[in-house]
Amino acid sequence: MSASGEPSDEVLDTLLTLGLAGQRRPIPRYAGGSRVPGWDEPADLAKDPAEIPDPATTDVPADLREQIEAHMADYPDRRSAVLPALAAAQRIHGWCSPEAIEQVACVMRVTPAYLESVATFYDMLETTPVGRHSVYVCTNISCSLRGADALFETISQAASQEPDVNVRSFECLGACDIAPMASVDGVYVGPLTPADVPRLLEDLLAGRPVLPDRQLARRAVADPHANSREFASPEPDGE
Ligand code: FES
Repeated sequence: MSASGEPSDEVLDTLLTLGLAGQRRPIPRYAGGSRVPGWDEPADLAKDPAEIPDPATTDVPADLREQIEAHMADYPDRRSAVLPALAAAQRIHGWCSPEAIEQVACVMRVTPAYLESVATFYDMLETTPVGRHSVYVCTNISCSLRGADALFETISQAASQEPDVNVRSFECLGACDIAPMASVDGVYVGPLTPADVPRLLEDLLAGRPVLPDRQLARRAVADPHANSREFASPEPDGE
């Protein structure tokens, strides 16, 4: 693989030999191989040391304050609530903007720099503006073998004019039994094909449940044919 993310000539030759060259599009990777934008951006060492924001001058939405305080109450050390607190701020602001981080820092009594160090480490916390709806397409091995790359390409293209939709590829989301799958605003749906994409986006943008019959949470088991046999009752003990 070249630094640009394109397959090398050698890899292309192998794909052509296997008859796969037309079926597989490479997933873009950033320098160093990561799929996460901004992972290698250096810290700004020229920044002033941050101070804990002053509650008297920091406006925090009441519902955000309530959520953060409830999370802090769950832990002996309030800093353990950083992840759910930042996630709550992201739900309200759409991303972990400087304003959102300032508000969380104010309620948690920590520095914005401390929160930034966490937000830039966890890639589900967005530190640049993105669409409010997240579509994470798993492109790891099980999903990839079942067509995830074509699915990712189709969703990316279909949503390219939708600023409210944030499409990205993701490593294994832990639902390989419904591969290829995606997490749509946190709801797991699969198996998916490129033909499902128009309805997936329609449901998402209309605020409807996305492909309800394909949602993992609505299925008793991933395999719809599992446990369909009748089993004889066990014999009572000792008889
Ligand atoms: S490889 Fe896609 S969910 Fe595991």
